[in-house]
Amino acid sequence: MRIRELDIDIPLSLAPMVGLSHSALRSLIAQLGGAGLFFTEMLSAKRLPSENEKKSPFLVRDGCERPLFFQIFTSTEDEVDCAMARLDELDAQGIDVNLGCPAPQLRKIGAGLELFKQTQTVTSLIKRMRRQTILPLSVKIRLGETEDSKKLLGTCQLFEDLGVDLITIHARLNGEKFCRKPRWHMLGNVTPKLSVPVIANGGIFSVDDARRCLEQSGAAGLMIGRGAAHNPWLFRDIAKELFDVQPNSNLQDGAEVYSHFITLLEQRFTPERRLGRLKQFTHYFASNYSFGHLLVSRIQNSSSMKQAAERATDFFKHAA
Ligand SMILES: Cc1cc2nc3c(=O)[nH]c(=O)nc-3n(C[C@H](O)[C@H](O)[C@H](O)COP(=O)(O)O)c2cc1C
Repeated sequence: MRIRELDIDIPLSLAPMVGLSHSALRSLIAQLGGAGLFFTEMLSAKRLPSENEKKSPFLVRDGCERPLFFQIFTSTEDEVDCAMARLDELDAQGIDVNLGCPAPQLRKIGAGLELFKQTQTVTSLIKRMRRQTILPLSVKIRLGETEDSKKLLGTCQLFEDLGVDLITIHARLNGEKFCRKPRWHMLGNVTPKLSVPVIANGGIFSVDDARRCLEQSGAAGLMIGRGAAHNPWLFRDIAKELFDVQPNSNLQDGAEVYSHFITLLEQRFTPERRLGRLKQFTHYFASNYSFGHLLVSRIQNSSSMKQAAERATDFFKHAA
């Protein structure tokens, strides 16, 4: 997959997810292999210029997390110039604009999905971004209000005309919850008519899901969100089965992966930033085990990383 001047060798990407797509998870997935593109969690375009690169938990990053697209949210052109300049300094390989998130805190400021609904504002914002950066520019959207492929195509063509280099489509309607079955087929009516690559997102938890999503959507690549925290090996398995890539990693089983994730959290974050992130990850990772709810409750009730690590070791001794 080619995004502007950037070649992506494996078209599998880690989704932007608040509290999850941080440096530790990105590194874990990079080390396990199979992912060709990473996204940060959404970052405020307003705050980005003043964030301290050395101290901010949102900007910490290891060299293996590459190529990395920084996802921003904004609702006003005033924030664009400084944010673009800062992302250049931060060695972003690309910039992604969040146009699909329905979270109330974004709605309140007219960003995310709310911005997506304001065609004029979003048009002038993207135009300005395009003028301000030569980096690959991408947008992440949902399908729209209703199942209307013609309208979706029109929206994507607008982005293409504005100079956007990549479109990620979360295959759910604007108001749909994550438990709703994704509508991958809707992308199938759109992708052949676009010249920029489309990444399909939503509901990919297995190699079989990935295969069916690619078939139905005709997308150039896939983006995996919750599945990545549930099963960080998923990229490696999909890359092996569908793209004939043989990534190698020494991490053998769930216990080792979990323990390595703890090490990465300790390396990347200051002590007060670690446990919350471990708890959020565990919520997904534990579902690999029949008694995973016990791991979740033991980690949720831990008051230190040390205690959490000891409880996890004990859990994995008996886990199946
Ligand atoms: C905990 C969590 C945080 C998320 N944060 C973001 C975000 O920062 N930006 C964004 O565009 N989407 C965000 N999303 C949506 C995901 O990127 C993705 O579109 C969604 O989870 C569907 O993909 P999945 O079924 O593979 O999880 C988030 C989702 C979750 C579960």
